[in-house]
Amino acid sequence: MGRSDIRVVSVIGAGEMGHGIAEVALLAGYKVFLRDITQEFLEKGVQRINDSLEKFLKKGKITRDEYEKIRRELLYPCTDMRKAVEQADLVIEAVPEILDLKMEIFAQMDKFAPPHALLASNTSSISITQLSKATDRKEKVLGLHFFNPVVIMKLVEVVRGQYSSENTMQKGYDFCLSINKVPVRVEKDVPGFIVNRINAPTHVLRGCILDKGIATPEEIDATMERFGAPMGPCKLLDYVGLDVHYHVLQYYAKNLHPDYEPYRTLEEKIKSGHLGKKTGKGFYDWSHGKPEIDISKATDKVDPNDFLALQVNEATKLVEMGVCSLMDIDTAMVNATNMRIGPIEAAQDIDPVEMTRRLERLAEQFGKEIFLPTGSVREGRYRL
Ligand SMILES: NC(=O)c1ccc[n+]([C@@H]2O[C@H](COP(=O)([O-])OP(=O)(O)OC[C@H]3O[C@@H](n4cnc5c(N)ncnc54)[C@H](O)[C@@H]3O)[C@@H](O)[C@H]2O)c1
Repeated sequence: MGRSDIRVVSVIGAGEMGHGIAEVALLAGYKVFLRDITQEFLEKGVQRINDSLEKFLKKGKITRDEYEKIRRELLYPCTDMRKAVEQADLVIEAVPEILDLKMEIFAQMDKFAPPHALLASNTSSISITQLSKATDRKEKVLGLHFFNPVVIMKLVEVVRGQYSSENTMQKGYDFCLSINKVPVRVEKDVPGFIVNRINAPTHVLRGCILDKGIATPEEIDATMERFGAPMGPCKLLDYVGLDVHYHVLQYYAKNLHPDYEPYRTLEEKIKSGHLGKKTGKGFYDWSHGKPEIDISKATDKVDPNDFLALQVNEATKLVEMGVCSLMDIDTAMVNATNMRIGPIEAAQDIDPVEMTRRLERLAEQFGKEIFLPTGSVREGRYRL
């Protein structure tokens, strides 16, 4: 069981996530096959791995021997799918978030990988259960959801599809430990898994605040940074891409609740082609470099405890559904977001009556059913 079972890892897709996943596996000493569709994309991914390894070498985090070994003996880039997976014990798919493409890739992985190999997806939103149906080894399919940038972010959500076996989950979990990550088990294949799901209703509240002109993006960011957020949420969305944010909200609207429909301010940005950092304009102007948030713009028009209450409320929904425990939620949030403490710890001193009233007020003020307090919140079952 565990590390000894997995010796060869294949990563399908050498983009933003795939190159990072390959790199952390290489750093842990695994033999890694990295596959992309063209030589050009592949070389780009390999270059990114080499650049990052050189930085580690310069900082003394790896030795020259380790560096040479990774480059000469451990990394095998290729464009051929069969070659990429035929020796694999674990295959991790990190191709674009397109259902048909992923289904096709899973069918190919199933065809060419040895029968014992586990097949994992790094998808953020596609159902693991659905992907497993493209294979004849549904019990060996799971989600391994890494966070960006992979070499820095510690969390990996280990997601159980409807058919994943306990052995598969345990091996996936042990593999994550072996590459120095912090795995958290997600026992049900729910939209957003843990971290993205906990943050989902906060996007809706922020959208309401922006649409109603209650506060500007900079006022929101300054307030949240003063409260302890490592980066203001609007600035973070500019990094992620407002188009990506838009599609995520559409996905939640379809799969969770219509309250998640993209908000007006966001729609206007998309229509004007202002997609964030990559287009030079989003919530902020990036044409002169990274925007600096002026903390003096922090305002009491925005209450950080409203956002905290929504996170705690969503956390209780996950616990009620048997997705994970309260402790898991804080472990996941801290290791995916660089926050000092998780929402559950932050809410320990908040009285359930106050929390309930706050959520009821938010639901009424903004007309959002998803803000209504759960039974667990009403009964104080967010306290450890
Ligand atoms: N970017 C993030 O912050 C992030 C975070 C967590 C999860 N994810 C998920 O990770 C996955 C990959 O996202 P990304 O941001 O790395 O995308 P990306 O576009 O940066 O990289 C995808 C790579 O896959 C390659 N590819 C396309 N078809 C392929 C095929 N048939 N075989 C092999 N490679 C193929 C592309 O050429 C590209 O290099 C998506 O499912 C995404 O939802 C992304």
